[in-house]
Amino acid sequence: MLLFSIFGYPVAHSISPRLHNAVMQGLNLDGCYIRTPIENPNALMQTFKTLQLSGANVTVPHKEVAFTQCDEVRGIAQKIGAINTLVREGSRVIGYNTDAEGFYEAIKSFGTLHNALILGAGGTAKAIAMILKTHGIETTILNRSRQRLAFFEAEGFTCKTPEAFEGGAYTLIINTTSAGLKDEEYPCDATLLKSLFHHAKFAFDVIYNKPTPFLCLAKECNLTCKDGKEMLLYQGVLAFNLFFSNHYDLKTIESLMRPVFEL
Ligand SMILES: NC(=O)c1ccc[n+]([C@@H]2O[C@H](COP(=O)([O-])OP(=O)(O)OC[C@H]3O[C@@H](n4cnc5c(N)ncnc54)[C@H](OP(=O)(O)O)[C@@H]3O)[C@@H](O)[C@H]2O)c1
Repeated sequence: MLLFSIFGYPVAHSISPRLHNAVMQGLNLDGCYIRTPIENPNALMQTFKTLQLSGANVTVPHKEVAFTQCDEVRGIAQKIGAINTLVREGSRVIGYNTDAEGFYEAIKSFGTLHNALILGAGGTAKAIAMILKTHGIETTILNRSRQRLAFFEAEGFTCKTPEAFEGGAYTLIINTTSAGLKDEEYPCDATLLKSLFHHAKFAFDVIYNKPTPFLCLAKECNLTCKDGKEMLLYQGVLAFNLFFSNHYDLKTIESLMRPVFEL
C-alpha cells in the first residue's frame, strides 16, 4: 500500500486526507493519506523517510524550511522558495509548489486582469505573486511590516507598508494574511479597503472556511468574490497528479475531489 501524509503544525483541521483519500478510493488505488503533526521542522525529511511515504503535502509553518531540505526542487517552487508537495523518486525527495498554480486556476474565471494588489507578504503571498508575474499581471504587495517585503523587492514588485501607501486602482485585491481567520479583523485599515474595493472588480481571500470581514466588505461593495476553497482544491488536484507521476487526468481527479467540499 502507498502511504501519503500532510505535514504541518497543527494539522488536525486539515482537509487534505479527505481530498486525497476520496480520489484514491474513486480510482481503486491501494493507498492511504494520513495526518502527521510535526512541530520541529528539522524532523520533516526524517519523518518522510521513516514512514516510507510516497508523497506528502507541507503546510504552515514548514513550507519554507521544507524547500531547504529537498534533494531537488522543481518548477515555480524554485522561484518561490517554499514548497507544499514532496514526492519520492527512488531514494530522492523532490519538492514542488502547487499553491501557485492552484491559485491561478481558481482565478481563471475572473478573465483578463490588468493588475493586482496582494495584502500580506508570507509564503502564500510569494506563491501568488510569482504566478501572477509569470502571467504578466502587474502586482503590488502591501504588508503591515517592512521585513518580509525584501523578497518581493528583489523580484521587482512594487512594495508598500501602510504608512507609505496611498491606495490606487487594482482590478483584483487578494488577502493572503490570516486576518479574519480566528478574529474579525480586516487585513488593513477598513477605510483604505473600502476605497480599494471601490476601484476593483474582484476580491480573493485565501482563507476558505469562513466568510472573513475582508470578503464580507468586498461583497457589500458589489465585487465578484472568491474564497480559498478552489485554490485548495486545485493545489490538491495538482499534488495528487505529482504523487502519481502525472498518470491521471486532472479533470478526473477534480471530479473525485470536489464533492469532499460539499459534505
Ligand atoms: N486556500 C489555500 O489553498 C491556501 C493555501 C496556502 C495558504 N493558505 C492560507 O493562507 C494564510 C497565510 O499563510 P502564509 O503561510 O502565507 O502565512 P505567513 O507566512 O505566516 O504570512 C502571514 C502574512 O500575513 C500578515 N498578517 C498576519 N496577521 C495579520 C493581521 N492581523 N493584519 C495584517 N497582516 C497580517 C503577516 O504580516 P507581517 O509580516 O507583518 O507579520 C504576513 O505577511 C493562512 O491562513 C493559510 O491557511 C490557504
